[in-house]
Amino acid sequence: MNVEHAQNHTENHAIYSAGYQCPSNIALVKYWGKKSGGVQLPANPSISWSLGDLYASTVVHAMPRENDQAFVFTLGGVSKASFEPKIASFLTKIASDCPWLIDFTLHIDSQNNFPHGTGIASSAAGFGALGLCLAHIEQLIHGAPALDGRVNNMDFWQRSSYLSRIGSGSACRSMFDKPAVWGLSEAVNGSSDLFAVPLDGEIHPDLQGWKDVVLIVDDGEKSVSSTDGHALLEAHPYAGARFGQAQKNLGLLVEAMRSGDVQRFIAIVESEALQLHSMMMTSLPYYVLMRPNTLAIIEKIWQFRESSGLPICFTLDAGANVHLLYDGKIDKTLMNFVNTTLLPYCKNGQYLCSETGKRPVAIV
Ligand code: PMV
Repeated sequence: MNVEHAQNHTENHAIYSAGYQCPSNIALVKYWGKKSGGVQLPANPSISWSLGDLYASTVVHAMPRENDQAFVFTLGGVSKASFEPKIASFLTKIASDCPWLIDFTLHIDSQNNFPHGTGIASSAAGFGALGLCLAHIEQLIHGAPALDGRVNNMDFWQRSSYLSRIGSGSACRSMFDKPAVWGLSEAVNGSSDLFAVPLDGEIHPDLQGWKDVVLIVDDGEKSVSSTDGHALLEAHPYAGARFGQAQKNLGLLVEAMRSGDVQRFIAIVESEALQLHSMMMTSLPYYVLMRPNTLAIIEKIWQFRESSGLPICFTLDAGANVHLLYDGKIDKTLMNFVNTTLLPYCKNGQYLCSETGKRPVAIV
């Protein structure tokens, strides 16, 4: 970044604005544990689908700074003090990457189209959208054509992913319509620990157009945050084995997605979800985020798959809710199954639906 350039603009009292709608995402191979010696670097590669219908919409106006205020944050136009520490910490962490920030007060307004606290990775959508806005403003300040110029040898999407990663690791995977891979893997060209990349090559048609129904089992605060959960991997007796398994699973999953091996895809995705929760249950101190209805739903999904032979599987985030993934072609049958069989296990009958594989949209 050219600091001198940014300062010239500040003297002109220019205001720079950007806005993005950014999807959440669901990991198929999970990121759980960080490498030491960097900011938010993954201990193993992960891969996800974006959830285009569950998104954050964020608008940022960068105003020339007149005091020491780095940012003003509103959630749908209303001040939200509880969000401020996370944003302040994020802006501090990216300060050396974005020296232009010192000259501006960022007016950030953000809003999710899904309820906060439903266990959906709201930080992924939120930091994804914020990373996109900052990368865009940076290009405007830089004088490069938006979405085109390179900053620190990264293109716009890589730079957005890079900045988002520092806010929330999983956020860096929200930038692409193709499956997003974050973390070095021999199986994926161009993969990096610093930002996510879209999976190279063709994806088999049988593994495109899948959808996700998020079955809300618990909408309360998690007993252990993701940040604390990641940290518990540092002294975890099985950490090395888990990171090795995730590396291997990523290679196998990518192969299955390219060849259309749906059975193998299902087996890896479900195993990854259970490995994630096994790591939680074997951390010290140990903890359990699944609830009785999480397991009840998983068993119902298994029974339904056994009897119907349909391409469906479950995965889990770091929480009690179940993501039911299925080929979009069986939408009607699947929603019938959800409404007749799974609804009683959902808290207040709540679930959220999304297509997979949509990319962010500029809204300003
Ligand atoms: O991005 P974080 O720090 O909230 O970590 C999220 C980790 C999981 O959602 C559990 C898995 C993943 O890869 O998204």
